[in-house]
Amino acid sequence: MHMSNHIVSEKINQYAEQHTDKESELLYELNRQTHLKTQLPFMISGHLQGRFLSMISKMIQPTSILEIGTFTGYSALCLAEGLKEDGRLITIDNHQEQAAIAQAYFDRSAYKNKIQLIIGNAMEIISTLNTDFDIVFIDADKMNYSNYYDLVFDKVRSGGYIITDNVLFHGTVILEENINKNTRAIQQFNEKLSKDNRIENVLLPIRDGILISRKKIIIA
Ligand SMILES: C[S@@+](CC[C@H](N)C(=O)[O-])C[C@H]1O[C@@H](n2cnc3c(N)ncnc32)[C@H](O)[C@@H]1O
Repeated sequence: MHMSNHIVSEKINQYAEQHTDKESELLYELNRQTHLKTQLPFMISGHLQGRFLSMISKMIQPTSILEIGTFTGYSALCLAEGLKEDGRLITIDNHQEQAAIAQAYFDRSAYKNKIQLIIGNAMEIISTLNTDFDIVFIDADKMNYSNYYDLVFDKVRSGGYIITDNVLFHGTVILEENINKNTRAIQQFNEKLSKDNRIENVLLPIRDGILISRKKIIIA
């Protein structure tokens, strides 16, 4: 249906989608509207990754989620599916028009009262949040991935998760020369997290690459 942003073959991706639950009608519509109304629609998590995020969230059963990079709200709605009854998701984006689309779909969803959208620069907003998070999903500007990680780290509860999108960056992370600044930033981010012994990591080649990092439980 749309331009791909995944590193496995188109056929394998289709097969995986065919054997994965369908998107809800609301998410399907949001996916379509995102392709019709935005200029960079491939940024959306989409069907397969969206179901993955939903499943992960249902496994963790979080009380609090922070998403950095809302876009049109697709991944926020997927992550919200696993929230506990009294759970909350905060999502940040600095793009007004996209945020308006996101808010309209949040309002139509079952998670209307659980999702708080903050419009502004995530680099400034994160430090103002006085919440501990069970899951942080990093999916905004690649140059700041490392800064986001540092800013959120102390706000992630012990045993909590940091999930980072696009860590294979269209497969360019394995290149050694002629790489752009975003690829370089992702390479450095992956390197930094793989050496950080406060976390456990697994990098999954789903769509554009997802890194799941779990903050180790330190027994004092
Ligand atoms: C890849 S998209 C997010 C996709 C979304 N999570 C999804 O899966 O559908 C990245 C978003 O980050 C936002 N963004 C980029 N830099 C930002 C910043 N400094 N603060 C807040 N949002 C930012 C962009 O406006 C864009 O909507």
